[in-house]
Amino acid sequence: MQRDQRPIGVFDSGIGGLTVLRHLIELMPEEDFVYLGDTARVPYGNKSAETVRLYASQCAEFLVRHNVKMIVVACNTASALALEVLRRQHTIPVLGVIEPAAAEAVRRTRSGSIGVIGTRATINSESYEKAIKDAADDRVVSIHSRPCPLFVPLVEEGWIDTPATRLIAEEYVRPLREAGIDTLVLGCTHYPIIAPVLGQLLPGASLVDCGECTARQAKALVEPTQSGNRSPRVSMYVTDNTPAFTSLASTFLGRRVDEPVRVSLDSIQSGGPR
Ligand code: DGL
Repeated sequence: MQRDQRPIGVFDSGIGGLTVLRHLIELMPEEDFVYLGDTARVPYGNKSAETVRLYASQCAEFLVRHNVKMIVVACNTASALALEVLRRQHTIPVLGVIEPAAAEAVRRTRSGSIGVIGTRATINSESYEKAIKDAADDRVVSIHSRPCPLFVPLVEEGWIDTPATRLIAEEYVRPLREAGIDTLVLGCTHYPIIAPVLGQLLPGASLVDCGECTARQAKALVEPTQSGNRSPRVSMYVTDNTPAFTSLASTFLGRRVDEPVRVSLDSIQSGGPR
């Protein structure tokens, strides 16, 4: 069977989606990827559902203009608020990160007590509660959700393991520890970057990285590729070239990332030239 040569499109509000891209590359090194970080408009997590839907639609449209064969919404906020809209707008598969992570959390929990952290918009949408209950079926689960809006700016700033990050994390995580959760869903793609800090605060708890589970689902959807040993081409686009992007992107992806191409918000908003 002829391989579909088109790249896989991935987007996030910023660098968080790189944690998903890393797993996609690991699982599918023969594929090419187009990544868009909407760095000019990050964070999405404090914005209204209407605005997140508009931004997500524009990002998806940009990827489609790059002839992608699948869109991975590497953002929980956009997955929570815009996935259905994007699926209606496009005929190619559109994968979100919430369902795979919810199913993995149900698989891992022993006590049935699951914590979920995410942006305000993700937590308020209750998408994880619904997805976890659906995945749990008849099993009784208790879900403890907590918005952690300060984590995204800390990560975008590169403050990964600083005293300030540890202090804020302790404040956010304490009620979850007291609730006795044994599984914590990192319900924002920025959070795996600070997973070591979170892991120290919740010893013994299993941390679910939505990128890992989503990459497995994406792999199941693309046809097996024939060419064994080529390295993937990753085309990076951002809506604002922030000073930290290239070095943080290289660190998170574990490979050298070229200077991203900046796309103007004007062209994204008008659906105009790239
Ligand atoms: N990384 C994103 C998420 O998974 C977005 C965070 C934000 O822009 O607030 O929700």
